[in-house]
Amino acid sequence: MTEFEPRILALCCHYCAYGAADLAGSMRTQYPPNVRILRLPCTGKVDIAHIMRAFEQGADGVIVAGCLEGGCHFQEGNLRAKRRVGLAKRILEESGLERERLEMFNLSSAMGQTFAEIARDVTERIRALGPSPVRVAGCELRVVSWEASDDSSETKGGETER
Ligand code: FES
Repeated sequence: MTEFEPRILALCCHYCAYGAADLAGSMRTQYPPNVRILRLPCTGKVDIAHIMRAFEQGADGVIVAGCLEGGCHFQEGNLRAKRRVGLAKRILEESGLERERLEMFNLSSAMGQTFAEIARDVTERIRALGPSPVRVAGCELRVVSWEASDDSSETKGGETER
């Protein structure tokens, strides 16, 4: 029997968390390829519906990663995201999913090593939880960039599809 490989979607803000993921790649820091990155202008763009949609489309876990508190380039985007992640965790729990499948992190763009550690830790956590109960058999995690005309499909630790 093959080991379960979690599918994890990381919603990363362009200014800090994506920079940290990029730095991890530049430093050739090893982390599992289970984490697929979707770059956002700011985690303030993350809506609860986006998180739920990720689970519906086959994610076993979701990471929301934004700037350090007080460091959001849109002032309070990461604080709004923190509140939404808290609400989404409650909805997950009420829907029968473990709240540990969703987590928010705050990073600076210099924290490449930390990003890699988060990717490793979350992958192991989700691996221990097993596949998401809402994952539909044969469902592929399809990551569509919210930015229509840039090259954000490049990967850091996993393949990202458009
Ligand atoms: Fe990074 Fe808002 S710009 S969380």
